[in-house]
Amino acid sequence: MRVLLLGGGGREHALALRLVEDPSVEQLIAAPGNPGIAAVAELRAVEAADPAAVAALAVEEQADLVVIGPEAPLVAGVADAVRAKGIAVFGPSAEAARLEGSKAFAKDVMTAAGVPTARAHACTETEDVGLALDEFGPPFVVKNDGLAAGKGVVVTDDRAAALGHARECGRVVVEEYLAGPEVSLFVVTDGEAAVPLLPAQDFKRAGDGDTGPNTGGMGAYAPLPWAPPGLVDEVMRDVVHPTLAEMRRRGTPFAGLLYVGLAITAAGPRVIEFNARFGDPETQVVLALLETPLAGLLHAAATGTLAEHPPLRWRDGAAVTVVVAAEGYPAKPRTGDVIAGAERPGVIHAGTTRRDADGALLSAGGRVLCGTATGPDLAAARDAAYDLVRGIELAGSHHRSDIAAAAIDDRIAVP
Ligand code: AMP
Ligand code: GLY
Repeated sequence: MRVLLLGGGGREHALALRLVEDPSVEQLIAAPGNPGIAAVAELRAVEAADPAAVAALAVEEQADLVVIGPEAPLVAGVADAVRAKGIAVFGPSAEAARLEGSKAFAKDVMTAAGVPTARAHACTETEDVGLALDEFGPPFVVKNDGLAAGKGVVVTDDRAAALGHARECGRVVVEEYLAGPEVSLFVVTDGEAAVPLLPAQDFKRAGDGDTGPNTGGMGAYAPLPWAPPGLVDEVMRDVVHPTLAEMRRRGTPFAGLLYVGLAITAAGPRVIEFNARFGDPETQVVLALLETPLAGLLHAAATGTLAEHPPLRWRDGAAVTVVVAAEGYPAKPRTGDVIAGAERPGVIHAGTTRRDADGALLSAGGRVLCGTATGPDLAAARDAAYDLVRGIELAGSHHRSDIAAAAIDDRIAVP
């Protein structure tokens, strides 16, 4: 099949590497792609969040399957426009993508479906925000209602800072703090059948020891040696299937990738957020361990035949990815710096571009590269990932030095 992959970040580079390995893929086209993806795909320019432009490109390229990486095109209705041309697309409709696009909508669906999550209030008035903060008490959690690339959330003990964030956002969701380690679980679904991938853990804060501001994610690892047995089955039963049923009941079935962000609390798993697409950088580690051909799996989800898909196969061992971020990320990333050492296998391109004049590789985003490695166990995978990171030269860049460390040292406790 001919596959068109939309997006140009680290997640899409990881998807591209797996898609081209699938024997059923005769041609991979990526739009806009990035210099890393260019090694395995033909690149096309496109405005990824423009439904008509993407649909036209899919027709022109005679795509048999379109895989949508980022959330913005989904929320803009790109999947609907491609589907309207009769082309299979992996990614939910705009209506279903509201599970990510609006925190208030996601809460409403979870309430209707009886899904365990933090108690929350959607507010616009400062006065209501204050009342909600006082009801739940510190630490305060204030979330921008709209899309914010993982950076719209403030978790703080400082009530004034919580109020300040709410004022900046306008419409927010204020919610109860969930204490416990976080898990990202990706579920491939055609709206009815649902197949979980390996659970992974992301590192949201910019600095070691979970300090500093929230980011899109600074690293990840899988599998999770500390996860309670039965976790995935429990989440499928209590979260995923009820949510998919509620979406069907509303006439807006969710087909694509349901990303379940969880906190494993003393009372059990609680949903922190839903996303409507693969997570970044968790995808880099989850797909590094997937043995089942990826295009066939995504095509089954896109065509309503997931129930007939054979069970997934996984490699033994573990995977770790470490993000190398630009100076100033997440607040104000500096771009345009020359990068060296990105040629090794396992170096995933997240925010890079090529200079026209001499073809030099330049930084072009906040998260620039990810060192991604597998190994027989987490410690070996971690060593190999940091080895890749040490080989990367990018002026002013920063990365966390503690990705997967607590899991390896058995320091993660489920309350
Ligand atoms: P979100 O964009 O909703 O995933 O939030 C980003 C990050 O903020 C999460 O990964 C958590 O680390 C943190 N967070 C969000 N909601 C809560 C909550 N209710 N309790 C504790 N931490 C939270
Ligand atoms: N790494 C978190 C996300 O993709 O939203």
